[in-house]
Amino acid sequence: MTTEPITKTPMTTTTAGWSAAAPDQPLLAIQGLRKQFTRANGQIVTAVDDISLSIAPGEFIVLLGPSGCGKTTLLRCIGGLESASEGTIEINGQPMFSAELGIDIPTRRRGISMVFQSYALWPNMTVFDNIAFPLKSRRRGISKAETATAVEEIARVVGIADLLTQYPHHISGGQQQRVALARALVDGNALVLFDEPLSNVDAKVRKDLRVELASLQGKYGFAAVYVTHDQEDAMELADRIVVLDGGRIAQVGAPQDIYQNPSSSYVAAFVGSSNSLPGTVTSATPTAVTLESAFGTVSARPSDDVEPGQAVDVMFRPQHVRIHTERPVGENTWRMCLRKIMHAGTHAEAVLTHDHNIYQARVEVDFDAPLDTDVWVQVAPRHVFAFPQG
Ligand SMILES: Nc1ncnc2c1ncn2[C@@H]1O[C@H](COP(=O)(O)OP(=O)(O)OP(=O)(O)O)[C@@H](O)[C@H]1O
Ligand SMILES: [Mg+2]
Repeated sequence: MTTEPITKTPMTTTTAGWSAAAPDQPLLAIQGLRKQFTRANGQIVTAVDDISLSIAPGEFIVLLGPSGCGKTTLLRCIGGLESASEGTIEINGQPMFSAELGIDIPTRRRGISMVFQSYALWPNMTVFDNIAFPLKSRRRGISKAETATAVEEIARVVGIADLLTQYPHHISGGQQQRVALARALVDGNALVLFDEPLSNVDAKVRKDLRVELASLQGKYGFAAVYVTHDQEDAMELADRIVVLDGGRIAQVGAPQDIYQNPSSSYVAAFVGSSNSLPGTVTSATPTAVTLESAFGTVSARPSDDVEPGQAVDVMFRPQHVRIHTERPVGENTWRMCLRKIMHAGTHAEAVLTHDHNIYQARVEVDFDAPLDTDVWVQVAPRHVFAFPQG
């Protein structure tokens, strides 16, 4: 009876009529993509700079990076809202964009759904009509009854079944974002693009929506390219995170992999929190890097990127800092002053100072020690990074 606009496995045929992809074929393949803008004063900005990236069917990719690093521009190029200056984009093996061949398939024929920060709902349409819009606008001969079934199912799944007769300005921001999500998922496209969809909702709603989004993706199996500068979104949602720096890919990998093995101080600072101080390498062997810093001699994990004499950023994560009241045995034991303990529900953060610089340590919630007294801090060498200064 229903046309099953939503399937529980990745779609093999889309509205653009593509045929089934080979199992190992990427859903989205981007090659050498570059996008330049010319500002009003004539200055050229390279917003996307030679990006190549393949995304598998059903994969959840997060584009992560600070403001201005090119996340939205890359997403808009994929969606066909922006024409790149160089490179190619293929979806299911079909060319969507090629600067060289002059191919630029319009957004509506790319078989992509999009969800924006601003919801972008039609104010003069009910929630039902907003969600039904993609089904109606594509004139695929879907009957009224089939449309109603599809809209009601997705509305139920995203938790807004009782709001279908309301208008967008009569419902909350979180509810509006659920409507936008339902509208993006209703026609079962294999690829959904998200641009900071949770940044307008409060922290609690954000957390709920994040969990719901992950479960929706598990249920329907769409691939996602999700833009955020929120590392919690990235860590929780991504199969792979793409960290962008000035329009270029700084690192691609699974969240835990990037977290544990960041390739630069830029990535280490952006994915997870970290402490950092300058240092100078005194020796670099295949088993260890030794350096001099304000803490004295520091042992860091081995790195091919540094050599003796080189100035480096020494970085370590609050999670890896151990605090002791008695001097512990072993390397990397530093004297610091305990200044404050900040409680955050499931854990606490200790604020420490050394030479007027501030460092952070993750401690247990029941951690207790007198403030403004000296403690011993220890970090295992395998948790200390030495990155070339960038
Ligand atoms: N239409 C435009 N004309 C000129 N420059 C632009 C245009 N759109 C974006 N840019 C520039 O391209 C760069 C990348 O912008 P983009 O919007 O992609 O960044 P972003 O990573 O999405 O940032 P944010 O997190 O603030 O949304 C910026 O330097 C921006 O000023
Ligand atoms: Mg943006």
